[in-house]
Amino acid sequence: MTEAKKTRQIIVSGMRPTGRLQLGNYWGALKNWVELQDRCECYFIVVDWHALTTSYRDSKNLRSHCREMVLDWLAAGLDPEKCVMFTQSQVKEHAELHLLLSMIVPTPWLLRNPTVKEQAREMGLIQDGSDNEVSKIDFGHLGYPVLQAADIMLYRGTHVPVGEDQLPHLELSREIARRFNSIYGEVLPEPQALLTPAPKVPGIDGRKMSKSYDNSIELGETAGSLEAKIRRMFTDPAKIRQNDKGHPEGCVVYAMHKLYSPFAATREQECRDGAVGCVQCKKDLAGSMEAVIAPFREKRRQWEARPGAVDEILESGRKKAQAAAEKTMAQVRRAMHLTD
Ligand code: TRP
Repeated sequence: MTEAKKTRQIIVSGMRPTGRLQLGNYWGALKNWVELQDRCECYFIVVDWHALTTSYRDSKNLRSHCREMVLDWLAAGLDPEKCVMFTQSQVKEHAELHLLLSMIVPTPWLLRNPTVKEQAREMGLIQDGSDNEVSKIDFGHLGYPVLQAADIMLYRGTHVPVGEDQLPHLELSREIARRFNSIYGEVLPEPQALLTPAPKVPGIDGRKMSKSYDNSIELGETAGSLEAKIRRMFTDPAKIRQNDKGHPEGCVVYAMHKLYSPFAATREQECRDGAVGCVQCKKDLAGSMEAVIAPFREKRRQWEARPGAVDEILESGRKKAQAAAEKTMAQVRRAMHLTD
């Protein structure tokens, strides 16, 4: 049994700084992080280098995106006393371990990665992902999962909370750890995915919630913007009049009631019976969501009112992270015979 299995769980996860977070980020990741910080040693990383792998041409707002995202983390309940929050690019050991791991990663492992291919497809770089097409993917982007492996292994992460789309990356991290250990001796723990069963959070048009579809709801919506978005939400197209019988299964408003609302228990039947109209149903949802989002907004405002607070938190996180990373790197360098 490896050392890591005897000790308690070490959680490592990261989020790319894209600015204000959306409900999907909360239900898919952040909610789980907030729960984990009470039970485990946790490292939560603002992965700004990962953001560059796909958006290097558009990096002018990167710094402000980092701060905005951390404000959302704090408002959602991450607590700098309970977890280590920091920025990837501030701990240079990530770059060093990424480089060293890249020495031992066979390129086919990277070329077949479905998550990277999917991203490249969304960026319009490739269409079918055939061999001559993958050559259009930038070197840094291909190495995305190697950088992620470095993020995890620097802190000897044992468990990595991720969504399903991240499983190929995690599998690669495990393969890299095994390969490293088989060449240089048992140094790096093999991280395990911690799959959180997350509810599907549709965008207001029923498609996947995404910035590029302009269909998202942010965690920090104002009461007014929230209401306006709920008014635009797609409902059952077959339910035209108030007392028509509805089909809640395809309805965005119903999906949100299930996440946010005390009406959820009875609403399905009421909709099917034609006992409630969509306008009323949206009003009920607006009230329920506002009750949840208002305290979040207030907490965010309190953090915003303390200039420098985010930078201080990230700096104190950096110190803790760096101390842990430096220990791992000393072992890695020794194992690879870079130092005595
Ligand atoms: N690739 C992850 C995502 O897009 C972000 C990430 C970077 C990450 N480094 C990580 C997640 C380390 C877990 C552990 O969601």
